Amino acid sequence: MYTVHLKTSTPYDILIGPGLIAQSGNLIGKVFSPCKAAVITDSNVHPLYAPTVMHSLSNAGFQPVEYVFPAGEQSKTLSTLSDILEFLAEHQLTRSDIVVALGGGVTGDMAGFAAAVYARGISFVQIPTTLLAAVDSSVGGKTAVDLKAGKNLAGAFHQPSLVLTDTDVIKALSDQLLSEGAGEVIKYGVLRDPELFSLMCEKDWKEHLAEIILRCVEIKKDVVSCDEYDNGIRKLLNLGHTFGHAIEKCSDFTVPHGFGVAIGMAIASGAAGKKDVCNRIIQANTNCGLPSSFDCEPSILAAAALTDKKRSGETIDLIFPEKIGSCYIKKTPVDQLPFLFETGLNTIKEILA
Ligand SMILES: NC(=O)c1ccc[n+]([C@@H]2O[C@H](COP(=O)([O-])OP(=O)(O)OC[C@H]3O[C@@H](n4cnc5c(N)ncnc54)[C@H](O)[C@@H]3O)[C@@H](O)[C@H]2O)c1
Ligand SMILES: [Zn+2]
Repeated sequence: MYTVHLKTSTPYDILIGPGLIAQSGNLIGKVFSPCKAAVITDSNVHPLYAPTVMHSLSNAGFQPVEYVFPAGEQSKTLSTLSDILEFLAEHQLTRSDIVVALGGGVTGDMAGFAAAVYARGISFVQIPTTLLAAVDSSVGGKTAVDLKAGKNLAGAFHQPSLVLTDTDVIKALSDQLLSEGAGEVIKYGVLRDPELFSLMCEKDWKEHLAEIILRCVEIKKDVVSCDEYDNGIRKLLNLGHTFGHAIEKCSDFTVPHGFGVAIGMAIASGAAGKKDVCNRIIQANTNCGLPSSFDCEPSILAAAALTDKKRSGETIDLIFPEKIGSCYIKKTPVDQLPFLFETGLNTIKEILA
Protein backbone atom coordinates (compact mmCIF):
# COMPACT_ATOMS: atom_id res chain seq x y z
CA MET A 1 0.00 0.00 0.00
CA TYR A 2 1.18 3.53 -0.77
CA THR A 3 0.58 6.42 1.63
CA VAL A 4 0.71 10.03 0.41
CA HIS A 5 0.51 12.73 3.08
CA LEU A 6 -1.01 16.03 2.02
CA LYS A 7 -0.21 19.11 4.13
CA THR A 8 -3.15 21.46 3.57
CA SER A 9 -4.98 23.60 6.17
CA THR A 10 -6.13 20.24 7.56
CA PRO A 11 -3.50 17.61 6.66
CA TYR A 12 -4.55 14.09 5.68
CA ASP A 13 -3.40 10.79 4.24
CA ILE A 14 -4.29 9.30 0.88
CA LEU A 15 -4.01 5.51 1.04
CA ILE A 16 -3.70 3.64 -2.27
CA GLY A 17 -3.74 -0.15 -2.31
CA PRO A 18 -5.71 -3.38 -2.79
CA GLY A 19 -8.56 -4.46 -0.49
CA LEU A 20 -9.05 -1.08 1.21
CA ILE A 21 -12.87 -1.10 0.87
CA ALA A 22 -13.12 -4.23 3.01
CA GLN A 23 -10.86 -2.60 5.61
CA SER A 24 -12.54 0.82 5.38
CA GLY A 25 -14.08 0.68 8.89
CA ASN A 26 -10.76 -0.02 10.60
CA LEU A 27 -8.88 2.52 8.48
CA ILE A 28 -11.46 5.24 9.18
CA GLY A 29 -11.32 4.14 12.85
CA LYS A 30 -7.66 5.16 12.95
CA VAL A 31 -8.71 8.75 12.20
CA PHE A 32 -12.11 9.01 13.93
CA SER A 33 -13.55 7.59 17.13
CA PRO A 34 -16.76 5.60 16.56
CA CYS A 35 -19.59 7.96 15.56
CA LYS A 36 -22.42 8.20 13.04
CA ALA A 37 -21.16 7.81 9.47
CA ALA A 38 -23.42 8.89 6.58
CA VAL A 39 -22.34 6.93 3.51
CA ILE A 40 -23.36 8.89 0.39
CA THR A 41 -23.29 6.89 -2.82
CA ASP A 42 -24.99 6.62 -6.22
CA SER A 43 -27.35 4.01 -7.64
CA ASN A 44 -24.59 2.25 -9.64
CA VAL A 45 -21.97 2.07 -6.90
CA HIS A 46 -24.45 1.22 -4.13
CA PRO A 47 -25.04 -2.46 -5.02
CA LEU A 48 -21.34 -3.00 -5.78
CA TYR A 49 -19.60 -1.64 -2.69
CA ALA A 50 -21.98 -0.06 -0.15
CA PRO A 51 -22.79 -3.33 1.68
CA THR A 52 -19.05 -3.99 2.26
CA VAL A 53 -18.44 -0.44 3.50
CA MET A 54 -21.53 -0.45 5.76
CA HIS A 55 -20.54 -3.82 7.22
CA SER A 56 -16.93 -2.77 7.74
CA LEU A 57 -18.01 0.48 9.45
CA SER A 58 -20.41 -1.39 11.76
CA ASN A 59 -17.72 -3.91 12.69
CA ALA A 60 -15.38 -1.06 13.59
CA GLY A 61 -18.00 0.40 15.97
CA PHE A 62 -19.46 3.14 13.73
CA GLN A 63 -23.20 3.70 13.26
CA PRO A 64 -23.49 3.85 9.46
CA VAL A 65 -26.53 5.14 7.55
CA GLU A 66 -26.67 5.32 3.75
CA TYR A 67 -28.07 7.76 1.21
CA VAL A 68 -28.33 6.72 -2.44
CA PHE A 69 -28.97 9.16 -5.32
CA PRO A 70 -29.51 8.40 -9.04
CA ALA A 71 -26.12 8.01 -10.77
CA GLY A 72 -24.91 10.67 -13.19
CA GLU A 73 -23.82 14.29 -13.58
CA GLN A 74 -27.50 15.34 -13.91
CA SER A 75 -27.87 14.55 -10.17
CA LYS A 76 -25.06 16.96 -9.21
CA THR A 77 -27.56 19.70 -8.34
CA LEU A 78 -28.66 21.93 -5.48
CA SER A 79 -31.79 19.79 -5.30
CA THR A 80 -29.84 16.55 -4.56
CA LEU A 81 -27.57 18.50 -2.21
CA SER A 82 -30.64 19.72 -0.34
CA ASP A 83 -31.96 16.13 -0.04
CA ILE A 84 -28.58 14.99 1.33
CA LEU A 85 -28.55 17.82 3.91
CA GLU A 86 -32.12 16.92 5.01
CA PHE A 87 -31.00 13.29 5.29
CA LEU A 88 -28.08 14.27 7.55
CA ALA A 89 -30.43 16.33 9.71
CA GLU A 90 -33.06 13.55 9.88
CA HIS A 91 -30.38 11.20 11.17
CA GLN A 92 -29.29 13.86 13.65
CA LEU A 93 -25.66 13.99 12.61
CA THR A 94 -23.64 16.46 14.62
CA ARG A 95 -20.21 18.01 14.13
CA SER A 96 -18.59 14.99 15.77
CA ASP A 97 -20.05 12.69 13.06
CA ILE A 98 -18.74 12.07 9.53
CA VAL A 99 -19.78 11.82 5.89
CA VAL A 100 -18.28 9.06 3.72
CA ALA A 101 -18.32 9.75 -0.04
CA LEU A 102 -18.36 6.37 -1.81
CA GLY A 103 -18.27 6.77 -5.59
CA GLY A 104 -16.92 8.75 -8.49
CA GLY A 105 -16.31 12.48 -8.82
CA VAL A 106 -20.00 13.35 -8.76
CA THR A 107 -20.47 11.64 -5.40
CA GLY A 108 -17.23 13.03 -3.97
CA ASP A 109 -17.92 16.61 -5.07
CA MET A 110 -21.51 16.60 -3.83
CA ALA A 111 -21.02 14.67 -0.57
CA GLY A 112 -17.96 16.84 0.12
CA PHE A 113 -20.02 19.99 -0.40
CA ALA A 114 -22.74 18.62 1.89
CA ALA A 115 -20.07 18.00 4.54
CA ALA A 116 -18.68 21.51 4.00
CA VAL A 117 -21.99 23.24 4.71
CA TYR A 118 -23.89 20.88 7.04
CA ALA A 119 -23.75 22.29 10.58
CA ARG A 120 -21.20 24.80 9.17
CA GLY A 121 -18.86 21.95 8.29
CA ILE A 122 -18.34 18.34 9.37
CA SER A 123 -15.51 15.94 8.51
CA PHE A 124 -15.62 13.63 5.52
CA VAL A 125 -13.80 10.69 4.00
CA GLN A 126 -13.41 10.04 0.27
CA ILE A 127 -13.59 6.50 -1.10
CA PRO A 128 -13.14 7.11 -4.86
CA THR A 129 -14.43 4.32 -7.12
CA THR A 130 -13.52 5.69 -10.56
CA LEU A 131 -10.05 6.30 -11.96
CA LEU A 132 -10.97 9.96 -12.46
CA ALA A 133 -11.93 10.33 -8.80
CA ALA A 134 -8.83 8.40 -7.66
CA VAL A 135 -6.35 10.54 -9.60
CA ASP A 136 -8.10 13.87 -9.30
CA SER A 137 -11.39 14.76 -7.66
CA SER A 138 -10.92 12.91 -4.33
CA VAL A 139 -7.75 14.89 -3.55
CA GLY A 140 -7.46 18.63 -2.92
CA GLY A 141 -10.75 19.60 -1.31
CA LYS A 142 -12.68 21.16 -4.17
CA THR A 143 -16.35 20.35 -3.63
CA ALA A 144 -19.30 21.55 -5.69
CA VAL A 145 -22.59 21.08 -7.46
CA ASP A 146 -23.55 22.35 -10.91
CA LEU A 147 -25.90 25.26 -11.60
CA LYS A 148 -27.98 25.66 -14.78
CA ALA A 149 -25.47 28.30 -15.90
CA GLY A 150 -22.46 26.00 -15.63
CA LYS A 151 -20.57 23.22 -13.93
CA ASN A 152 -19.35 23.41 -10.33
CA LEU A 153 -20.63 26.98 -9.93
CA ALA A 154 -21.72 26.47 -6.32
CA GLY A 155 -19.14 24.94 -4.03
CA ALA A 156 -16.59 25.24 -1.26
CA PHE A 157 -13.03 24.30 -0.41
CA HIS A 158 -13.30 21.52 2.16
CA GLN A 159 -10.48 19.00 2.55
CA PRO A 160 -11.33 15.37 3.32
CA SER A 161 -9.81 13.85 6.48
CA LEU A 162 -8.81 10.65 4.70
CA VAL A 163 -8.85 9.24 1.15
CA LEU A 164 -9.06 5.47 0.64
CA THR A 165 -8.35 4.34 -2.92
CA ASP A 166 -8.91 0.62 -3.35
CA THR A 167 -6.90 -0.38 -6.43
CA ASP A 168 -8.94 -3.62 -6.82
CA VAL A 169 -12.00 -1.42 -7.43
CA ILE A 170 -10.18 0.66 -10.04
CA LYS A 171 -8.81 -2.45 -11.80
CA ALA A 172 -12.36 -3.82 -12.11
CA LEU A 173 -13.67 -0.73 -13.97
CA SER A 174 -15.05 -0.92 -17.52
CA ASP A 175 -12.90 0.22 -20.45
CA GLN A 176 -15.17 3.28 -20.79
CA LEU A 177 -14.60 4.40 -17.17
CA LEU A 178 -10.85 3.76 -17.41
CA SER A 179 -10.73 5.90 -20.56
CA GLU A 180 -12.61 8.71 -18.81
CA GLY A 181 -10.01 8.68 -16.01
CA ALA A 182 -7.17 8.51 -18.52
CA GLY A 183 -8.14 12.01 -19.71
CA GLU A 184 -7.06 13.43 -16.33
CA VAL A 185 -3.97 11.18 -16.17
CA ILE A 186 -2.77 12.45 -19.56
CA LYS A 187 -3.35 15.97 -18.17
CA TYR A 188 -0.87 15.32 -15.34
CA GLY A 189 1.62 14.00 -17.90
CA VAL A 190 1.30 17.11 -20.09
CA LEU A 191 1.59 19.39 -17.02
CA ARG A 192 4.49 17.81 -15.19
CA ASP A 193 5.56 14.31 -16.16
CA PRO A 194 6.82 13.28 -19.64
CA GLU A 195 7.39 9.69 -18.38
CA LEU A 196 3.80 9.35 -17.23
CA PHE A 197 2.69 10.81 -20.57
CA SER A 198 4.77 8.21 -22.45
CA LEU A 199 3.23 5.43 -20.34
CA MET A 200 -0.23 6.61 -21.48
CA CYS A 201 0.95 6.14 -25.07
CA GLU A 202 1.79 2.46 -24.35
CA LYS A 203 -0.67 -0.32 -25.15
CA ASP A 204 -0.33 -1.84 -21.64
CA TRP A 205 -1.04 1.30 -19.57
CA LYS A 206 -3.92 -0.45 -17.78
CA GLU A 207 -1.39 -2.88 -16.25
CA HIS A 208 0.11 0.01 -14.24
CA LEU A 209 -2.94 1.54 -12.55
CA ALA A 210 -1.58 1.65 -8.97
CA GLU A 211 1.60 3.46 -10.07
CA ILE A 212 -0.40 5.78 -12.32
CA ILE A 213 -2.70 6.76 -9.43
CA LEU A 214 0.29 7.28 -7.11
CA ARG A 215 2.10 9.49 -9.63
CA CYS A 216 -0.97 11.65 -10.31
CA VAL A 217 -1.76 12.04 -6.59
CA GLU A 218 1.85 13.07 -5.92
CA ILE A 219 1.68 15.74 -8.62
CA LYS A 220 -1.67 16.97 -7.32
CA LYS A 221 -0.24 17.00 -3.77
CA ASP A 222 2.70 19.16 -4.88
CA VAL A 223 0.45 21.65 -6.62
CA VAL A 224 -2.30 21.80 -3.97
CA SER A 225 0.12 22.13 -1.05
CA CYS A 226 1.58 25.25 -2.72
CA ASP A 227 -1.79 26.78 -3.62
CA GLU A 228 -4.70 25.24 -1.70
CA TYR A 229 -7.20 27.98 -2.64
CA ASP A 230 -6.55 28.14 -6.38
CA ASN A 231 -5.04 31.63 -6.57
CA GLY A 232 -1.92 30.70 -8.52
CA ILE A 233 -0.29 27.51 -9.80
CA ARG A 234 -3.28 25.28 -8.95
CA LYS A 235 -4.94 26.87 -11.97
CA LEU A 236 -2.57 24.73 -14.07
CA LEU A 237 -4.70 21.71 -13.13
CA ASN A 238 -7.39 23.25 -15.31
CA LEU A 239 -5.47 22.36 -18.46
CA GLY A 240 -8.07 21.37 -21.06
CA HIS A 241 -10.94 22.19 -18.70
CA THR A 242 -12.27 25.54 -19.97
CA PHE A 243 -12.44 24.15 -23.52
CA GLY A 244 -13.60 20.77 -22.20
CA HIS A 245 -16.38 22.14 -19.97
CA ALA A 246 -17.76 24.05 -22.97
CA ILE A 247 -17.86 20.80 -24.95
CA GLU A 248 -19.53 18.93 -22.08
CA LYS A 249 -22.14 21.67 -21.86
CA CYS A 250 -22.77 21.90 -25.63
CA SER A 251 -23.21 18.11 -25.76
CA ASP A 252 -25.86 18.33 -22.98
CA PHE A 253 -23.38 16.36 -20.87
CA THR A 254 -23.43 13.33 -23.19
CA VAL A 255 -19.65 13.91 -23.53
CA PRO A 256 -18.28 12.80 -20.11
CA HIS A 257 -15.84 14.98 -18.18
CA GLY A 258 -12.69 12.97 -18.97
CA PHE A 259 -13.53 13.01 -22.69
CA GLY A 260 -14.08 16.78 -22.55
CA VAL A 261 -10.68 17.25 -20.90
CA ALA A 262 -8.99 15.07 -23.56
CA ILE A 263 -10.48 17.11 -26.41
CA GLY A 264 -9.85 20.34 -24.46
CA MET A 265 -6.11 19.58 -24.16
CA ALA A 266 -5.88 18.98 -27.90
CA ILE A 267 -7.68 22.30 -28.53
CA ALA A 268 -5.43 24.17 -26.05
CA SER A 269 -2.23 22.93 -27.71
CA GLY A 270 -3.57 23.62 -31.22
CA ALA A 271 -4.72 27.10 -30.16
CA ALA A 272 -1.23 27.77 -28.71
CA GLY A 273 0.32 26.97 -32.09
CA LYS A 274 1.96 23.80 -30.73
CA LYS A 275 1.09 21.37 -33.50
CA ASP A 276 3.71 18.82 -32.33
CA VAL A 277 2.28 18.78 -28.79
CA CYS A 278 -1.25 18.59 -30.21
CA ASN A 279 -0.20 15.61 -32.31
CA ARG A 280 1.24 13.78 -29.30
CA ILE A 281 -1.83 14.49 -27.17
CA ILE A 282 -4.02 13.08 -29.95
CA GLN A 283 -1.81 9.95 -30.00
CA ALA A 284 -2.17 9.50 -26.22
CA ASN A 285 -5.93 10.15 -26.40
CA THR A 286 -6.36 7.59 -29.18
CA ASN A 287 -4.28 5.00 -27.31
CA CYS A 288 -6.48 5.45 -24.22
CA GLY A 289 -9.79 5.24 -26.12
CA LEU A 290 -10.40 8.99 -25.89
CA PRO A 291 -11.74 11.35 -28.59
CA SER A 292 -9.75 14.41 -29.73
CA SER A 293 -12.35 16.36 -31.66
CA PHE A 294 -15.87 17.70 -31.35
CA ASP A 295 -18.17 18.91 -34.08
CA CYS A 296 -19.61 22.30 -33.08
CA GLU A 297 -19.43 25.96 -34.12
CA PRO A 298 -16.51 27.73 -32.36
CA SER A 299 -18.77 30.70 -31.52
CA ILE A 300 -21.26 28.41 -29.74
CA LEU A 301 -18.46 26.73 -27.77
CA ALA A 302 -16.97 30.13 -26.89
CA ALA A 303 -20.35 31.33 -25.56
CA ALA A 304 -20.59 28.17 -23.43
CA ALA A 305 -17.10 28.82 -22.04
CA LEU A 306 -18.06 32.28 -20.75
CA THR A 307 -19.61 30.93 -17.55
CA ASP A 308 -16.31 29.27 -16.61
CA LYS A 309 -15.05 30.05 -13.09
CA LYS A 310 -11.60 30.89 -14.48
CA ARG A 311 -13.17 34.02 -15.97
CA SER A 312 -12.69 37.31 -14.19
CA GLY A 313 -14.43 40.22 -15.87
CA GLU A 314 -13.39 40.44 -19.50
CA THR A 315 -10.42 38.06 -19.17
CA ILE A 316 -10.05 34.36 -18.51
CA ASP A 317 -7.04 32.37 -17.25
CA LEU A 318 -6.31 29.72 -19.85
CA ILE A 319 -3.67 26.99 -19.62
CA PHE A 320 -1.51 26.24 -22.65
CA PRO A 321 1.18 23.57 -23.13
CA GLU A 322 4.74 24.70 -23.86
CA LYS A 323 5.89 21.10 -24.34
CA ILE A 324 4.96 17.72 -22.83
CA GLY A 325 5.75 18.20 -19.12
CA SER A 326 5.45 21.99 -19.00
CA CYS A 327 2.47 24.37 -19.27
CA TYR A 328 1.77 28.03 -18.54
CA ILE A 329 -1.16 30.19 -17.45
CA LYS A 330 -2.18 33.02 -19.78
CA LYS A 331 -4.66 35.77 -18.96
CA THR A 332 -6.67 35.99 -22.18
CA PRO A 333 -9.38 38.45 -23.26
CA VAL A 334 -12.66 36.52 -23.48
CA ASP A 335 -13.33 37.88 -26.96
CA GLN A 336 -10.44 35.72 -28.21
CA LEU A 337 -12.26 32.53 -27.25
CA PRO A 338 -14.01 31.98 -30.63
CA PHE A 339 -10.67 32.37 -32.42
CA LEU A 340 -8.92 29.98 -30.00
CA PHE A 341 -11.62 27.31 -30.39
CA GLU A 342 -11.45 27.71 -34.17
CA THR A 343 -7.63 27.54 -34.34
CA GLY A 344 -7.49 24.58 -31.97
CA LEU A 345 -10.20 22.61 -33.79
CA ASN A 346 -8.64 23.38 -37.21
CA THR A 347 -5.21 22.14 -36.04
CA ILE A 348 -6.84 18.92 -34.82
CA LYS A 349 -8.63 18.51 -38.19
CA GLU A 350 -5.33 18.93 -40.07
CA ILE A 351 -3.62 16.31 -37.90
CA LEU A 352 -6.50 13.84 -38.16
CA ALA A 353 -6.90 14.33 -41.95
N1 LIG B 1 -13.22 18.18 -7.22
C1 LIG B 1 -12.31 18.11 -8.16
O1 LIG B 1 -11.17 18.53 -7.98
C2 LIG B 1 -12.69 17.48 -9.46
C3 LIG B 1 -11.68 17.12 -10.37
C4 LIG B 1 -12.04 16.45 -11.54
C5 LIG B 1 -13.38 16.16 -11.77
N2 LIG B 1 -14.34 16.54 -10.89
C6 LIG B 1 -15.76 16.20 -11.11
O2 LIG B 1 -15.88 14.79 -11.14
C7 LIG B 1 -17.03 14.43 -11.91
C8 LIG B 1 -16.67 13.31 -12.85
O3 LIG B 1 -16.24 12.20 -12.08
P1 LIG B 1 -16.57 10.72 -12.52
O4 LIG B 1 -16.19 10.52 -13.93
O5 LIG B 1 -16.01 9.83 -11.49
O6 LIG B 1 -18.17 10.75 -12.51
P2 LIG B 1 -19.28 9.87 -11.78
O7 LIG B 1 -19.17 9.98 -10.32
O8 LIG B 1 -20.59 10.25 -12.38
O9 LIG B 1 -18.92 8.39 -12.23
C9 LIG B 1 -19.06 8.03 -13.59
C10 LIG B 1 -20.02 6.82 -13.72
O10 LIG B 1 -19.38 5.67 -13.19
C11 LIG B 1 -20.21 5.02 -12.26
N3 LIG B 1 -19.32 4.35 -11.32
C12 LIG B 1 -18.58 4.93 -10.34
N4 LIG B 1 -17.78 4.00 -9.77
C13 LIG B 1 -18.03 2.83 -10.39
C14 LIG B 1 -17.51 1.51 -10.23
N5 LIG B 1 -16.54 1.23 -9.35
N6 LIG B 1 -17.98 0.53 -11.04
C15 LIG B 1 -18.93 0.81 -11.96
N7 LIG B 1 -19.46 2.04 -12.16
C16 LIG B 1 -19.01 3.03 -11.37
C17 LIG B 1 -21.06 6.11 -11.70
O11 LIG B 1 -22.25 5.60 -11.16
C18 LIG B 1 -21.31 6.97 -12.93
O12 LIG B 1 -22.36 6.41 -13.70
C19 LIG B 1 -17.47 15.70 -12.63
O13 LIG B 1 -18.63 16.19 -12.02
C20 LIG B 1 -16.30 16.66 -12.43
O14 LIG B 1 -16.71 18.01 -12.40
C21 LIG B 1 -14.00 17.17 -9.75
ZN1 LIG C 1 -11.22 17.46 -14.32
